[in-house]
Amino acid sequence: MDFGIVGAGTVGQGIAGHLVRAGHRVVLSARRGPDALSDTVARLGPRATAGTTAEAAAAAMVFLAVRWPDIPAALAGLPAWDGRILVDTTNQMTGPDPSNHVDLGTETGSEFVARHAPGARVVKAFNTLFARYIVPDPRHADGRQLLFYAGDDVDAKAGFRAVADQIGFAPVDAGSLPDGGRLMQVGGLLSALHAVKQD
Ligand SMILES: NC(=O)c1ccc[n+]([C@@H]2O[C@H](COP(=O)([O-])OP(=O)(O)OC[C@H]3O[C@@H](n4cnc5c(N)ncnc54)[C@H](OP(=O)(O)O)[C@@H]3O)[C@@H](O)[C@H]2O)c1
Repeated sequence: MDFGIVGAGTVGQGIAGHLVRAGHRVVLSARRGPDALSDTVARLGPRATAGTTAEAAAAAMVFLAVRWPDIPAALAGLPAWDGRILVDTTNQMTGPDPSNHVDLGTETGSEFVARHAPGARVVKAFNTLFARYIVPDPRHADGRQLLFYAGDDVDAKAGFRAVADQIGFAPVDAGSLPDGGRLMQVGGLLSALHAVKQD
């Protein structure tokens, strides 16, 4: 499977690192364009390349790792999703302070993302963890880092679960986007929960 990263910042680069170390090819994109990522892809190695946002979004599994206010622009004008998997790592925050939480009412953050990516099979993941638990090797001495995920498509979730497992996390299915997604988003029971699976 090929992978794309829309948003090559802290989270996007961390996930890309796990994927290339597991032997996968990854296309990374940033708002500033591919040339701004030359040092980043050089550091990640030959399996990583820089592309436009549209090129990254053309992959079979795409990780969305932009800040909340940038989501509509990042997802605008992309190739038709046609069922490709979009992994939403975002949190609905306009800044680091809890008061910067964006209240969407009955809609969860990943449903908002899905609405801006019609035809994508959205899986929510990684957003519950601080970057310091996303970026390093998730295989700790005490066990593997738990990674909650949620989604409405069984096959997309199985595909994501296999990838998460392969790169060293211990994936835990939190349910559907409306229910699991709400538990996982800021304010939910699983938000900021750092735990390991003892195996
Ligand atoms: N940091 C954490 O601890 C953490 C943990 C869990 C979840 N999250 C969530 O993960 C998301 C990313 O966080 P982060 O800390 O990685 O942010 P970040 O370091 O600021 O990176 C954001 C990236 O998005 C890129 N971007 C913006 N618009 C884009 C577009 N139209 N096309 C492609 N790329 C675009 C930016 O490109 P430029 O550099 O060119 O502007 C930048 O590379 C946020 O929603 C955050 O809430 C963060």
